[in-house]
Amino acid sequence: MVLDLDALTPSVAWVDDKIEIIDQTRLPERLDIVELSSVDAVVDAIYRLAVRGAPAIGACGALGVVVGLDERCPRDTIEARAALADLVEIIGSARPTAVNLRWSVERVGNAAAGGSTPSEIRSRALAEALMLIDEDRVACERIGEAGRRELTGLSNIMTHCNTGRLTTAGWGTALGVVYAKAAAGEPVSVMASETRPLLQGARLTVWELDDAGIEVTLMPDSSSAAAMAAGKVDAVIVGADRIVANGDTANKIGTFTHAVNARYAGIPFYVAASAATFDPSIATGDDIPIELRPSLEMTQWRGRQTAPENAATWNPAFDVTPAELITAIITEAGILRPPFDQSIRSMLGSD
Ligand code: MRU
Repeated sequence: MVLDLDALTPSVAWVDDKIEIIDQTRLPERLDIVELSSVDAVVDAIYRLAVRGAPAIGACGALGVVVGLDERCPRDTIEARAALADLVEIIGSARPTAVNLRWSVERVGNAAAGGSTPSEIRSRALAEALMLIDEDRVACERIGEAGRRELTGLSNIMTHCNTGRLTTAGWGTALGVVYAKAAAGEPVSVMASETRPLLQGARLTVWELDDAGIEVTLMPDSSSAAAMAAGKVDAVIVGADRIVANGDTANKIGTFTHAVNARYAGIPFYVAASAATFDPSIATGDDIPIELRPSLEMTQWRGRQTAPENAATWNPAFDVTPAELITAIITEAGILRPPFDQSIRSMLGSD
């Protein structure tokens, strides 16, 4: 199978001094490209999941700092540095759980602050943002290859949410492993859980795998134990929004349930993520900030009522899978195994 990433529309791109994103809220009906030319538009696109997935919001946020500098036109270096600090704060707070967002905007802010004129600050910010996007593409390739080797002989892969090319500058993290298997001519098929309430699995994972000619079967979120019991799953691979020092991992709500089910069924459960998704400053998953989303996402679907209007809701966007349920973490630096506190420390070079 020939998979050519350069022939596809990127999820986030820098075009004519503006950001262009695929509006993921419109998929699978429409492949709409939306231009983001203000900080408000960047924050709004991130918040309403028009751009989503930890690496993609990191990339969009990073380029958003440049858009913000252009919008504010600082007259001198002091103003430009003040603008940077402000933009890092505003954009970095658009969503709280994926550490990639704050990590990216801070990285761009730090790299740019050393410039000695407003235009140098702007060009440094842009160079850093583009560098970070290139690095993400390389990281995806390495994750794909490391995962492909690790999962030799396992071809029925279950996944949750969407972790492919829509979420990264490359082929993705968990789905990066699937694409690497397909590209190597190995048998692979995917069980994709719907991912309620916003249906990232149904709308996005099925769309992008279908587009690449990879066999994919859509399943309800609540069917994972049954699918495993029926022998439909050799391994589970999910992405991550934040992996903390002990390996506890925040990812899309529902991930924890799949991990519990996999343990019960004796099926390996993998997390795939790049170094940018690790947050060693937090000791355990208890301290990961979990985003709570609006009720409307549960009580309506595209304007149609799916629950009583005034229903009380609890709508956490993410859950935390305890490290003890994770078989291994697939990264661009190779496979991290338990005890994760040690393997994470040595990967991040903080030993
Ligand atoms: O709320 P979303 O759709 O941004 O959540 C995305 C996920 O949970 C992904 O699994 C994660 O960000 C990894 S994307 C490579």
